[in-house]
Amino acid sequence: MADKKARITVDGIDQTIELPVLTGTAGQDVIDVRTLGSHGVFTYDPGFMSTGSCESAITYIDGEAGVLLHRGYKIADLAENSDYLETCYLLLYGELPSSEQKAEFVETVKNHTMVSESMQKFLDGFRNDAHPMAIMVGLVGALSAFYQDHMDINDPKHREIAAFRLISKMPTLAAMCYKYSKGQPTMYPRNDLSYAENFLHMMFATPCEDYKVNPVFAKAMDRIFILHADHEQNASTSTVRLAGSSGANPFACIAAGFVTLWGPAHGGANEAVLTMLEEIGDESKIDEFIAKAKDKNDPFRLMGFGHRVYKNFDPRAKVMRETCDQVLAELGQSDDPMLKIAKRLEKIALEDPYFVERKLYPNVDFYSGIIMKAIGIPTSMFTVIFAMARTVGWISHWNEMISGSYKIGRPRQLYVGHTERDYPTKK
Ligand code: SDX
Repeated sequence: MADKKARITVDGIDQTIELPVLTGTAGQDVIDVRTLGSHGVFTYDPGFMSTGSCESAITYIDGEAGVLLHRGYKIADLAENSDYLETCYLLLYGELPSSEQKAEFVETVKNHTMVSESMQKFLDGFRNDAHPMAIMVGLVGALSAFYQDHMDINDPKHREIAAFRLISKMPTLAAMCYKYSKGQPTMYPRNDLSYAENFLHMMFATPCEDYKVNPVFAKAMDRIFILHADHEQNASTSTVRLAGSSGANPFACIAAGFVTLWGPAHGGANEAVLTMLEEIGDESKIDEFIAKAKDKNDPFRLMGFGHRVYKNFDPRAKVMRETCDQVLAELGQSDDPMLKIAKRLEKIALEDPYFVERKLYPNVDFYSGIIMKAIGIPTSMFTVIFAMARTVGWISHWNEMISGSYKIGRPRQLYVGHTERDYPTKK
């Protein structure tokens, strides 16, 4: 269709404002409002309910249909047939790698898994009971201090080495946080292990005895990484883009992503789901919590339910639930009380008009915690693992923005404060 237009009239503005309508390869058209300000009026969209912030080719979500594509590939297909590092390659470069490209990518990631020994000194400044996300925010931001030699963000090679360093070092830093909280020594990465095996080994091995990685756990971990790798312009990715738009270095931008993801409405929800399931404690108390979730006067929300975009099942939740069944069956824990409460809670909520009318379905966070708990990962590490996996999404969006044309993000506002007034004269 010829160039589409939107025409708006605004009381008090004489002429009709004509704005271009842009069409992507899929999803909603967008009204390009960049020139609207010149007509003396802004759009207003707190929470960005109806606002596109950028053009992107990385991930597509159809919330009504429950579709999630990474560079065109369905998340269920990637979870079934790919692995996390192949998915990282796809998100970063836009195509699935050949076997040679995959081998080279994996080798490069392995060559960057260690962090400077000085990072250990940062850890020593924290209390052992510090939340691991608080420590990670510090450690990831501190990476900025170590790689000044490759910080020209306009150099594609510098951007690529930053991506490798961030993807490679995140499991090492995450495991360091866990070991520190346990009062155990850091375990160094082992480059003979896969990405997920290496993470589990750094988490659970000690200098006194090795830790044999259970292949079912490694597969489940790798799948959790894939399912959390990227998700379009969510709050933390939007933070990374906004931070990056000022020209900040990639390590600082990713640290900003960590900060935003930590919130319970976002990546902190997986930890909050486990806390909620433990608080429910028994199937007999589910109705009480459903009532609290529906009570407008009660701030309690059913954690792991609802999504800004998905108004159907989160496709990641479906895969996560299958993985949960597999891991617990492998452990002979199919009758895990937490899982039984979760499944009963899901069934009740999906039949309750309050949730049905508001299209509140289980999201990616609803089952992931049960899997990680079964593997032996403490609840406090759940959001760290989400952030670890999402690092590739953040850096892919950062790279897509910096390698294209962009402007510094600078929203406007609806001002509702005092108009100009004189300073009171001294009596
Ligand atoms: C992630 O953006 C992403 O893509 C995020 C993510 C990613 O991969 O990056 O997918 C990861 O963050 C998943 C979401 C994890 N968060 C939770 O599970 C926390 C619980 N969920 C809610 O806080 C909420 O559903 C949000 C934050 C996820 C979405 O909130 P919205 O889109 O702003 O919706 P809303 O708050 O306006 O709610 C609409 C209605 C309200 O009721 P009414 O005012 O219409 O009467 O639904 C209600 C809300 O009260 N509601 C809930 C609810 N979620 C929404 N009621 C009870 N329990 C809930 N979980």
